[in-house]
Order: sequence, then structure tokens, then C-alpha cells
Amino acid sequence: MNSKQIFITGANGQLGTALRAKYPDAKFADIAELDITDPKSVKDYDWSNIKTIINAAAYTNVDGAETNEGRVSAWKVNATAIGNLSQVCREKNITLVHISSDYVFDGSQDNHTEDEEFSPLSVYGASKAAGDLLVQSLPSHYILRTSWVIGEGKNFVRTMLSVAEKGIDPSVVNDQIGRLTFTDELVRAIDHLLTNQLEFGTYNVTNDGQAVSWADVTREIYKSADLGNKVTDISTEDYYKDKEGIAPRPKFSSLNLSKIKQTGFRPNDWKEDLVKYIKKERQ
Ligand SMILES: NC(=O)c1ccc[n+]([C@@H]2O[C@H](COP(=O)([O-])OP(=O)(O)OC[C@H]3O[C@@H](n4cnc5c(N)ncnc54)[C@H](OP(=O)(O)O)[C@@H]3O)[C@@H](O)[C@H]2O)c1
Repeated sequence: MNSKQIFITGANGQLGTALRAKYPDAKFADIAELDITDPKSVKDYDWSNIKTIINAAAYTNVDGAETNEGRVSAWKVNATAIGNLSQVCREKNITLVHISSDYVFDGSQDNHTEDEEFSPLSVYGASKAAGDLLVQSLPSHYILRTSWVIGEGKNFVRTMLSVAEKGIDPSVVNDQIGRLTFTDELVRAIDHLLTNQLEFGTYNVTNDGQAVSWADVTREIYKSADLGNKVTDISTEDYYKDKEGIAPRPKFSSLNLSKIKQTGFRPNDWKEDLVKYIKKERQ
């Protein structure tokens, strides 16, 4: 694989940043250079010599998507824009690598395989499911379905570290269960699929290890960072009791990793990558 033939959209996001580090020779753009919701910009872009588009662009504000304005944006970026990219990929014989979410499921099953039927609870989840359907209609595509992404940007680990630094002992929800996914693991899986030209299709990709609640993730963050802050368990219902416009979230986000493992990919344990991430954060 020639990384000069890769194009990264949403290049300034968490995943986009990690992809640029892995593929310094790749072409890339974020919304300022290429707004993927604009069909003309996407169609007229110079795609010559591009063999793979990795779409790291998305509308990821889960609660924002429940507002009138956010609903429109979520559907534009996560669905309509995927139609624009898919059209270019189909016409120019480009492979599309796209990222999906645990939020396409209602989370009633405790372990999601790639072929589970869509059952999104939220606007964000529905818009991501629509994007998946568009990508799945392409002959050359990889969808990596992931959860709880942590990289360079606003994310749960950074939020909890900053809460601790303010001297707060947080109450954190204990009834949403999943695993963190570090962007380096997503990039490693993308590279594994592309380099080995594995069978096109959908692959669950998260870090491996025990699926736990956000409260337990927070305890692990504080343990890894050697912080003494106390974490109190709270149910999702109680946590959001007095808040409006909160998107419903899946109870179980844990994705079954058998398919990607069968290709020879071994995802790291999230607790080990968390230690490395926190060490880097605190340098
Ligand atoms: N974050 C998670 O916990 C999570 C969980 C499961 C799946 N995922 C999926 O993983 C993928 C990567 O997520 P992430 O956390 O890296 O997201 P992110 O940090 O929010 O990055 C998304 C990037 O896309 C850009 N973007 C937004 N609208 C665009 C447009 N119209 N044209 C071009 N670029 C646009 C954003 O720019 P602005 O910042 O300027 O808007 C941002 O730089 C997404 O597909 C997401 O749905 C994420």
C-alpha cells in the first residue's frame, strides 16, 4: 500500500490526528478545506491518484444531535455526506474506510456482533446507521465499528483528569458498560485491513479487555494517574434527572472482537493503553 494514495477527511479530529501521524505522506483535509456535506466540493475535488479515502469526519456531539439544529447537522455529516463520498468512491473505484459506532444499537444485547440489526436510540445513532447503510452498498469498503474513542481531542479521559485536578470527587454512571478504544488501535486496525488487503466488510474494532462501566473506567483513570479522587456510582437515570435534551445511550456497548481477531489482529487491553495514554498526557 502506498500511503501517498490515501486521503483522510476530518483530519483534525481525534482519529484524523492519529491517522496523519501514521501516514505523514497521505493527503488530508478537515472541514475548512473540504466540507464533505457539500456534494459539489466533493465531486470536483482532485481525486486523481487516490486509491483509499479514510473518512474520519463525523458529527460526534451525541446530545447536540437531539436539538433542532444539531439534528440537521448530524444527518448532513453522518449520512448525506457519506452519500457524497460513496458516489465518488463508486465512480473512481476508490476504497472507502469508514467508522461506525456502538450507538447504532440499542445496547440491549451485552455483546454486539457485526451482523446485529440496527436499533439506534438516538439521533446520532440513527444518522450513523444511515451512513453505514450507504457505505455497505459499495463494493470496496471497510467499516470499523467502535466505541468510547480516546485520542488527541476532547474525550472522557481528559474530562475526568481535569475534574480531578479541580479537586472534585465525581459521581459517574455505573450502568453503561463498554471498553475504551484508543485511536492508535483504530489506526493499527485500519492499517492491518488495508496492508493485508483483507476481505471488505464491517469489522468491530475496540481495545480488548474487560467491559466495565464509566464509573469503573474513571477509577482506573485515577489509579493509573496516581490520583486519590473518590468515584461515586450513579445510575444514568439519576445522573441526568434534572437535565433536558440528553440523548438516550445504549446500556451495553461492548463489541464482539472475534472477527477482527480471526484475521490475526490482536487488540491491546484498554487498561494497558490507558496507562500509556496517561503517562503521555502528564509529560
Ligand atoms: N468519539 C467517540 O467516542 C466515538 C465512539 C464511537 C464511534 N465514533 C466514530 O469515530 C469516528 C471518529 O471520531 P472522533 O472522536 O475522531 O471524532 P471528532 O474528534 O469529533 O472528529 C471529527 C472531525 O470531523 C470534522 N468534521 C465535522 N463536520 C465535517 C464536515 N462537514 N466536513 C469535514 N469534516 C468535518 C470535525 O471538525 P469540527 O471539529 O470543526 O466540527 C472534526 O475535526 C467518527 O466516525 C465517530 O462517529 C466515535
